[in-house]
Amino acid sequence: MERELSLEFVRVTEAAALASGRLMGRGDKEAADQAAVDAMRSVFDTVHINGTVVIGEGEKDEAPMLYVGEHLGISDEPRVDVAVDPLEGTNLVAKGLPNALSVVAIAPRGCLLKAPEVFYMDKIAVGPRASGCISLDAPVAENLQAVARAMDRDVRDLTAIILERPRHEELIAEIREAGARVKLITDGDVSAAIATCVETSGVDILFGIGGAPEGVIAAAALKILGGDMQCRLIPKDGEGPGHDEQPNGEDRFRLLCLEDLAKGEDLFFAATGITDGDMLSGVRYRGQTAETHSLVMRGVTRTIRNIYATHKLERKPRFVSSESICRQ
Ligand code: FBP
Repeated sequence: MERELSLEFVRVTEAAALASGRLMGRGDKEAADQAAVDAMRSVFDTVHINGTVVIGEGEKDEAPMLYVGEHLGISDEPRVDVAVDPLEGTNLVAKGLPNALSVVAIAPRGCLLKAPEVFYMDKIAVGPRASGCISLDAPVAENLQAVARAMDRDVRDLTAIILERPRHEELIAEIREAGARVKLITDGDVSAAIATCVETSGVDILFGIGGAPEGVIAAAALKILGGDMQCRLIPKDGEGPGHDEQPNGEDRFRLLCLEDLAKGEDLFFAATGITDGDMLSGVRYRGQTAETHSLVMRGVTRTIRNIYATHKLERKPRFVSSESICRQ
């Protein structure tokens, strides 16, 4: 994929952030999500890719836009997989809480794992310094000790981030028992996984079960950032096929490494902050202008760009919605 696509993908996440950020704190997560989806979809219509949504808003019958299998882009080449989360952290925007993002990951066709929405993933993720030291199958204390050794620290100096959910009670107790500090979050494990790769975030390791689509998107980012992640699919209802099921001769519940989640180096990842967060500032609206903060990363070169943009809203009539929300 050509490097110039970086900016195209940022325009996509900027549009979604500008649209949904308007609805921050309104208590309406569906409206915020819809605004992000509409805006993101409209900008994808200008991007020079031949894309297929592999992670999106659900199956065609339930999602009118950005559904899995939908075609995106206006060129024949490059043929790519597109993973989108127009609004990662719907509750975060609805309540005005930190770390809501709009995010996309793009890879050559067939390179992103197709993780259905009806699945959760058990996840463990770390930054570059602890890459190669983690195992989803090892006890929590063992992982923490390995990460502490790799980072030349004590376990009590490490901070583990984890979604605050009843299903994690035991896991949280084990982390505490091992001596690490704990940061509980209400939502947003894409941002949490990426935080392990950002020195200033104060976060060293992610544990716990979150959405499977979010796992694949986070994996694309961690691959570019040089971090590490292991995952395992789990059916959402806790039932379903056992670990020995092998559709197409493949055990879909096997341990998944970064390479299984996002293959190769030819990856792009773009994210724009919607609410203020550990890595990205949220959208600021200032009358006729709005400001966004985005991150765009390219796997081939591992270049990481922070992009601060000022949008002159009256100059972007093409994407103005009926509520004047999504000017891009
Ligand atoms: P949404 O943006 O779809 O609301 O997802 C937010 C999120 O917190 C993800 O970051 C996380 O992977 C998932 O939900 C966890 O699912 P659940 O809320 O069912 O535990």
